[in-house]
Amino acid sequence: MLRATNIHKRHGQLEVLKGIDLEIDKGEIVSIVGASGAGKSTLLHILGTLDKADSGELIIESTKASDLSPKKLASFRNQKIGFVFQFHNLLPEFTALENVCIPAYIGSNNSPEYRAHELLELLGLRERLHHKPTQLSGGEQQRVAVARSLINRPAIIFADEPSGNLDSSNAEELHQLFFELRDQFDQTFVIVTHNENLAEMADRKLEIRDGVVLQ
Ligand SMILES: Nc1ncnc2c1ncn2[C@@H]1O[C@H](COP(=O)(O)OP(=O)(O)OP(=O)(O)O)[C@@H](O)[C@H]1O
Ligand SMILES: [Mg+2]
Repeated sequence: MLRATNIHKRHGQLEVLKGIDLEIDKGEIVSIVGASGAGKSTLLHILGTLDKADSGELIIESTKASDLSPKKLASFRNQKIGFVFQFHNLLPEFTALENVCIPAYIGSNNSPEYRAHELLELLGLRERLHHKPTQLSGGEQQRVAVARSLINRPAIIFADEPSGNLDSSNAEELHQLFFELRDQFDQTFVIVTHNENLAEMADRKLEIRDGVVLQ
């Protein structure tokens, strides 16, 4: 469902990615590990179409993302790709329910409120629908971010250290959630993590070292 071929990327003089090849199947949970500065976030941003590779090809669900115009790419990203970051990036003036709906409003998907409600319930937030981010715990905020990433039924979700800001029990709960969502929706995840448990639990663990992927 995703294929990246010979991805190269430099940041200034620094050659961060030196020919990354990888394939990800539908319903897989793939973890990406590597030392700080190895290029994990750089790779995730390229796979998620938030950043462009200097060269190489990226195909997601038979669409050659590396060829799309900026406008087409923005719409493709909105419909096909979900993101969960270390810091939830929820909009502070909106409720949990509203935050989850935002990607659907942007994509002009009709009436996402029902699905948003369902997702938040599924993630154990039934009592928190109308709370604003500051009224939620860190674990709850991150689960709202996961619900938001799911609202448009994306082909793939990219998470960059999603539990990096959580204590170990909230982290564990979040990790379990990824596997439940995979079992229930056949949802594909690519997760950059420094958490050894999560990295090992994944179907496949990839390591980035010296600009290439070690399987
Ligand atoms: N926008 C940028 N401009 C210049 N250099 C950058 C930029 N983004 C990243 N880098 C450099 O590229 C290298 C890879 O960064 P990246 O953020 O991908 O690492 P990482 O593996 O995610 O590390 P961490 O585990 O600390 O998050 C680092 O040396 C970083 O300093
Ligand atoms: Mg990073």
